[in-house]
Amino acid sequence: MTDPRQPTVLATGRRADHCPFEPAAELTALRERPGLPVIPRHHPFFGQFDARAVTRYGDVRAVFAHEHIGADMNADADAPRTLFNQPGFLLGYDGPEHSRLRRMLAGAFTVRRLQDMRPWIERIVAEHLDAMHESGPVADLVQAYALPIPSLVICELLGVPRSDRADFQHRSAVLLDTTRTEQEQFANYAAMHAYMGELVGRSRTEPASGVLGEVIREHGDEITDDELIGFGNLLLIAGHETTSNMIALGTLALMRNPDQLAAVRDDENVATSAIEELLRYLSIVTYLDRRATTDLDVAGHRIAAGEWLSLSVMAANHDPALAGGNAGLDVRRKPVPHLAFGFGAHQCLGQQLARVELKAALPALLRRFPALRLAVPFEQLEFRTFSPIHGVTSLPVTW
Ligand code: HEM
Repeated sequence: MTDPRQPTVLATGRRADHCPFEPAAELTALRERPGLPVIPRHHPFFGQFDARAVTRYGDVRAVFAHEHIGADMNADADAPRTLFNQPGFLLGYDGPEHSRLRRMLAGAFTVRRLQDMRPWIERIVAEHLDAMHESGPVADLVQAYALPIPSLVICELLGVPRSDRADFQHRSAVLLDTTRTEQEQFANYAAMHAYMGELVGRSRTEPASGVLGEVIREHGDEITDDELIGFGNLLLIAGHETTSNMIALGTLALMRNPDQLAAVRDDENVATSAIEELLRYLSIVTYLDRRATTDLDVAGHRIAAGEWLSLSVMAANHDPALAGGNAGLDVRRKPVPHLAFGFGAHQCLGQQLARVELKAALPALLRRFPALRLAVPFEQLEFRTFSPIHGVTSLPVTW
């Protein structure tokens, strides 16, 4: 029998040094190894432990969908509150409690809300393009475009009043800033929590336009204020980090492939397929953790109760079983059922909104600045290798 504890330095999130969009050769090799190899995993809250690496498309999908494999991070009332350890933070819940909360929030993500937001999103995209144009011809695309657009969308979604937006955005920016000290982060988190508490309180007593108001109108008696605050914090982080990194990294990937950039810029049909392809190709949520709640078999592999699994969304989305012989960027690829938004119980609630944002932001940027290019050598760019959500820390561009 093979020893599943074979030492390995391979991680489920490792990207190629020469191309930060694609899996490293070691990760591809890991995918080709039989079984679910054990890898060392360091977790910010749970410390050092072993995890089974799940890298093949079929296996990752099966694990996502398994009813006895969950996030297993339910809020611990005795531990200090953090962003992840709080009631209402859906990503940490499993089973019926997760379904109960998710149903309430999902009801507020209506097609109608999305339709109402689309013209507004297109307007803020146009405003940011104008501002970039006026202050150019050089800009940091992250600060000037990729971050502020999702940030304003979150404000609108949560029903943050206009007069509060500057403060709210400042606190969100600090929350997402990994260079801040732990103390700064705790103080900022407390301020954010207090603000969210006020927003929830106001939404309970006054008619409110955002999703929190909607959840209160429909389910006010079934949900606590603490859970509503958790919803707000979840939407803030889930909608911010992801979409902004997709806009910046997507633009960069296209600038590295000028013929594909031209196709997205000039052909409306390609622009639509390109969004799905960039989601698959970049797999910015590179990996996710799961834990088995009972002994079980998944895709023919035996997993013991309590074992951790490290799911490589990146490796799965580049698996030939999904992408065929060539997993490289191909904006004309017929969309495939990628796992960039996850799958199963926790599948992204904001995926349609994210698609609307990306469809509004990416082609419009390329059309407004047809000669868009990097303002610094590619080698000088810094990537977010420290985070499970991949991206570029700043992106100086010119036109
Ligand atoms: C391109 C942008 C986005 C990507 C790649 C993305 C990706 C993901 C992924 C992979 C998950 C599943 C996590 C897991 O299984 O543990 C997830 C969950 C979630 N996402 Fe997104 N997301 C994006 C944008 C958004 C936006 C714009 C929102 C809302 C404003 C949002 C809200 C959520 C929520 C609420 C969940 C938790 C669902 C649950 O636990 O039941 N996401 N997202």
